[in-house]
Amino acid sequence: MKEHLVIFDTTLRDGEQSPGASMTKEEKIRIAKQLERMRVDVIEAGFPAASPGDFEAVKAVAAAVKDSTICALARANVNDIPRAAEAVKEAKAARIHTFIATSPIHMKMKLRMTPDQVLEQAGMAVKLARTFTDDVEFSPEDAGRSEVDFLCRVLEAAIKAGAKTLNIPDTVGYNVPGQYAELLRALRERVPNSDKVVWSCHCHNDLGLAVANSLASILSSGVRQVECTINGLGERAGNAALEEIVMAVRTRQDIFPCDTRIDTTQIVPASRLIANITGFPVQPNKAIVGANAFAHESGIHQDGVLKSRETYEIMRAEDVGWNANKLVLGKHSGRSAFRSRLQELGIQLESDQALNAAFARFKDLADKKHEIFDDDLHALVSDEAVTQEDEYFKFVSLKQRSETGETANAEIVISTEGQEKRASAPGDGPVDASFKAIEHMVASGAELQLFSINAITSGTDAQGEVTVRLSKGGRIVNGHGADTDIVVASAKAYLSALNKLHAKAERVNPQR
Ligand code: KIV
Ligand code: ZN
Repeated sequence: MKEHLVIFDTTLRDGEQSPGASMTKEEKIRIAKQLERMRVDVIEAGFPAASPGDFEAVKAVAAAVKDSTICALARANVNDIPRAAEAVKEAKAARIHTFIATSPIHMKMKLRMTPDQVLEQAGMAVKLARTFTDDVEFSPEDAGRSEVDFLCRVLEAAIKAGAKTLNIPDTVGYNVPGQYAELLRALRERVPNSDKVVWSCHCHNDLGLAVANSLASILSSGVRQVECTINGLGERAGNAALEEIVMAVRTRQDIFPCDTRIDTTQIVPASRLIANITGFPVQPNKAIVGANAFAHESGIHQDGVLKSRETYEIMRAEDVGWNANKLVLGKHSGRSAFRSRLQELGIQLESDQALNAAFARFKDLADKKHEIFDDDLHALVSDEAVTQEDEYFKFVSLKQRSETGETANAEIVISTEGQEKRASAPGDGPVDASFKAIEHMVASGAELQLFSINAITSGTDAQGEVTVRLSKGGRIVNGHGADTDIVVASAKAYLSALNKLHAKAERVNPQR
């Protein structure tokens, strides 16, 4: 009988710390429902002390998910921990994850605390968290650069105070596989009562080693929880990629002493959802979820695969969810079929009004496009008109003209506070002209950092989904727009980003 490897997904917390990857409450619920469908054990839903919006999002995820433990992050202090506890109190199974930095550089330069103060604070924090829930996790931040003797003392104090999981972060992605595995082995050997807790790895990818480090510690150091994110999303170079960890362990059952409960057919849908919501595209040659991960281009490979799949394939595309984008609805589908498919996808619309708006857009889309897929539905409900998120600038209409050798021109109509306004501008192509027309009217002064466009499904009648990333005054936001007309989708995405900038949310980063 194999031991269980706990999959702790932190896409909604560490992943969201990636600049530009911030998500709305509705987006977080959709992602959490997909993680639950994938059978993730623990979902780290956010850092409630960061802002009132983050608190509300964690609370909403805790209420929506039943089959995964919901975890909230808290710095080791008396303000963050009760806030985290309050956010997850509705969860069927709740965890508090508290942390404090233990490396010499973090203690001295960031915390300005002595090691003894850090030791005391760690014990106090775990004890306080235990007054709210039995399921408490403790992390010594920057463990990868901490002194082992000191780490042992802090971890011993955390166990004494009641921690059930000890997570060892390589916060800055500095470790290499043998060294990280050795660190975990030493800690498990030296810390008293180490057999009473679950040991967890948390690796960042600055040297491209996050997955390798995690797997080394699972393989040879008794680690039985892995912290990871979909598509490896996360600060700087990101975290260990969930899909790579899960498939390595599943594919190499001949060497791993443990396995996960993950439904691997949900991996590709999860990857697409995250890419669409964050606007961080997946590189084509990315393992498992890249568009080329199962494509065989060379004649020799194709020939081999046709004769016997195992000649060049170690996994089956369908086992990780390629082709899971089901054809679901068409022009004649009714409201109840539409509603029930949304429910199956974990999409919760908050009111009848929102459902009506979504259904109207669905009918509109079905007129333009014969077959509607799950990915179309996800794009459709991302629309602000449907989610009823703060929509200060509302798209009304767009007229544009472009011709080879001529300057393009766009005329846009936007409504703000019930008043329609019109502006036009020339540009270098219809998208540029549309953005300039919007700026002509709005004068946001924001800087365009990213413009990306993807066909949601195949075929020339596919919806184009556009992501626009804008930055202003240190804030970075992503806007999304989908339409069968890609210039309209672009204008909607630009307005969606402006709406997010307009909604001014102040957030604290837990590690700064
Ligand atoms: O990388 C890190 O140290 C973290 C902790 C908060 C666990 O994300
Ligand atoms: Zn981290």
